[in-house]
Amino acid sequence: MANQLCIVLDFGGQYNQLIARRVRECGVYCEIKRFDTPLEDIKALSPMGVIFTGGPNSVYDETSPHIAKEYFDLGIPTLGICYGCQLMAYTLGGTVESCTRSEYGKIEVSHSGGTLFSNVPDKSVVWMSHTDFVSKLPDGFKGNASSADCPIAAFECPERKLYAVQFHPEVTHSQFGKEILHNFLYDVCGFKGDWVMDDFIDTTVAKLREQIGDKKVILGLSGGVDSSVAAGLLSRAIGKQLTCVFVDQGLMRKDEGDFVEETFTRLFDMNFVRVNCQQKFLAALKGVTDPEQKRKIIGTEFYNVFWDKIREQGADGFFAQGTIYPDRIESGKGNQAGHGSTAVIKTHHNMVKMPDDIKFDGVIEPLGDLFKDEVRAVGEKLGIPHELVWRQPFPGPGLGVRIIGEITEEKIKILQEADAVFRDEIHKSGIESELKQFFAVLPDVKTVGVMGDHRTYDHLIAIRAVTTDDFMTADWARIPYDVLAKVSNRLCNEVEHVNRVVYDITSKPPGTVEWE
Ligand code: XMP
Repeated sequence: MANQLCIVLDFGGQYNQLIARRVRECGVYCEIKRFDTPLEDIKALSPMGVIFTGGPNSVYDETSPHIAKEYFDLGIPTLGICYGCQLMAYTLGGTVESCTRSEYGKIEVSHSGGTLFSNVPDKSVVWMSHTDFVSKLPDGFKGNASSADCPIAAFECPERKLYAVQFHPEVTHSQFGKEILHNFLYDVCGFKGDWVMDDFIDTTVAKLREQIGDKKVILGLSGGVDSSVAAGLLSRAIGKQLTCVFVDQGLMRKDEGDFVEETFTRLFDMNFVRVNCQQKFLAALKGVTDPEQKRKIIGTEFYNVFWDKIREQGADGFFAQGTIYPDRIESGKGNQAGHGSTAVIKTHHNMVKMPDDIKFDGVIEPLGDLFKDEVRAVGEKLGIPHELVWRQPFPGPGLGVRIIGEITEEKIKILQEADAVFRDEIHKSGIESELKQFFAVLPDVKTVGVMGDHRTYDHLIAIRAVTTDDFMTADWARIPYDVLAKVSNRLCNEVEHVNRVVYDITSKPPGTVEWE
């Protein structure tokens, strides 16, 4: 049985995926659809509720995303948030104006009751981010919350099940945001809360079995979270009908290839094919120093090896990949990237086309409906080790973008050792959970040093650790001096060919997280 559905209608706001995640955290399945999804399509999906998101525009801009007035005749319970709130008022005959000053940040609002605010104190703090506001309500609506600068911070028409809030309940700074969303979903729309991860595993396994029958499935395993969890689910569904192909280009972290192989062959029933091809990559990268060219070569070689292996195995049955929901969403900003069409292979930042001569019966994306945190929850429930499920991001080109200049086997070895020491110290220091990503870099610079009575002329290691919400911007982490001291000591003492350590104190921007 399909889950009850809530639709998040995307008007281009920055928190749209967050709204969808919050809805799911309330136990309600939801999907994000573009604002211009035809009304017949919305109707055909039979959503029990719709949420209009925020957006950067003003309803009076000619180019603003709008919604047909007829939408409101469909009778679907709807909650408008920020721009979505203004749009609801404007479309139904109310008035929107610009404030003399924008309201931004944590703001106190008071409410006068109503279903949305049940169990929410009369006064509470919410997150506001707007310049326009609703100054006159459409007929039949009444305002039920206000702030010092915003006379109508929420309004409703319970008879038509239409509700709106000027603030952002999805943001954690809104003290009772979750309650407000919960009230809308359960008390206004009448959802039962049938989106539960345990059920997800059982129903997906059953669906996969039905879809696949006795055919075979090939999955490209990178060792990252998404492909690992997809492998876990498929293994549970079809066991040995699944073959995972793991291309080890020799640019992984220390012992990582062995860890991935060991984990999957030990934990799961499946065929595991590992292709060790470091030498092939090194040959292709010989003498290459330009960062973009290096990336290109690594990407191209990876797919050459991968497709060749698939040709060798035979493209028999289905092709599976670890695409997750955010990869498939078409955004209301008109960004068409990443919608889940068949025969498109997701590799980190890249979408790669399957070669024409490889023909599978179809593509399977068992995680195509999940957000990253849901993927992790499924991974934990499937018994995939914590270490893998909570893995920090690792770039597709691997250590290739952390060795500046030409990549050689010796430099890979030095960097792997240095990175392992750094990670070990961070792990022991107890600050690991505060860091979003941390790693060592080999800048390919040699400096003079002294060891015992001898002069040395050896490699410099740079260490990088960042804190960030979304990797679009990042700050360098304030690692305590004593941890840095231990790391520096150990790197110089334990890693051969390292005689100096520097800490990268560049934020993003102007730096990027990776060095290349
Ligand atoms: P930058 O260096 O762009 O990195 O600030 C932001 C985040 O993206 C990761 N990164 C990559 N991930 N393939 C990936 O899957 C890549 O080519 C790639 N380049 C950078 C980086 O590790 C950081 O988490």
